[in-house]
Amino acid sequence: MGERIAILSGKGGTGKTSVCAGLAVALARERKRVLCVDCDVGLRNLDISLGVQDGAALSFLEVARGQYPLDKAIRHPQFPKLSFLTAPMNCTADQIDPALLTALLDQAQGEFDYILLDAPAGVGAGFRLVAQAARRFLLVTGPGPAAVRDAARVGELLELMGRNNVRLIVNRVDKSMLRAVRLTIDDVMDTAGLALTGIVPEDPNVPLASSFGQCLSLYAPRCPAARAYRRIARRLQGYYEPIPLR
Ligand SMILES: Nc1ncnc2c1ncn2[C@@H]1O[C@H](COP(=O)(O)OP(=O)(O)OP(=O)(O)O)[C@@H](O)[C@H]1O
Ligand SMILES: [Mg+2]
Repeated sequence: MGERIAILSGKGGTGKTSVCAGLAVALARERKRVLCVDCDVGLRNLDISLGVQDGAALSFLEVARGQYPLDKAIRHPQFPKLSFLTAPMNCTADQIDPALLTALLDQAQGEFDYILLDAPAGVGAGFRLVAQAARRFLLVTGPGPAAVRDAARVGELLELMGRNNVRLIVNRVDKSMLRAVRLTIDDVMDTAGLALTGIVPEDPNVPLASSFGQCLSLYAPRCPAARAYRRIARRLQGYYEPIPLR
């Protein structure tokens, strides 16, 4: 049975979509069957981070409504184990019945090892859609206080909804910057009140790969962010991978 993992944040722009694409590709490289779903209804961009923006996109809503079968989801041209459903663009998240997405994932769970949901920022209708459908949650924050506080709030809301499998990813970590402001990853974890699953360094290859419409793992396979995604993907599978905190 596939794992249903949502990638969320409170604050916008913390790196959810980049992390979702990076983990999806890292898992597919390990021969896992992965379904990646863009849940940012009306504002999709996961296709760009995956490097599949030129394909004919099929939305999760079209599949959830039975207009197309799940096996019509886009297959990544370089990673055939990775399938992708985009977000619908002609409606808003509050117009989508959360039960539809949940039912789609119930079906997909039998066909994929990992289902990754790229959530929108904030705690609105898109958040509720994803919170209902997923079973594990990765909160992506930057190290700054506003993003960490918002991640803590999202963690609390998930707990109120009975969603307890929540972990933190600290993205865009620049260790010299942290030292300059006397902040440690431990401080970030304490403020967020969440256990850590990984750290992704600040890496210019992430925006560069998107600008060229390529997935990071093909654009710069050995870059620090791609290596961090691979380590987090290993941890998701239950392997021991130390987190370099210093
Ligand atoms: N590790 C990183 N190093 C440098 N830049 C990064 C890193 N991760 C993400 N970025 C950049 O940060 C910006 C926001 O990233 P991304 O779109 O993944 O965030 P998001 O949380 O999905 O945003 P939104 O809330 O709008 O959906 C992008 O320009 C991306 O290239
Ligand atoms: Mg995004």
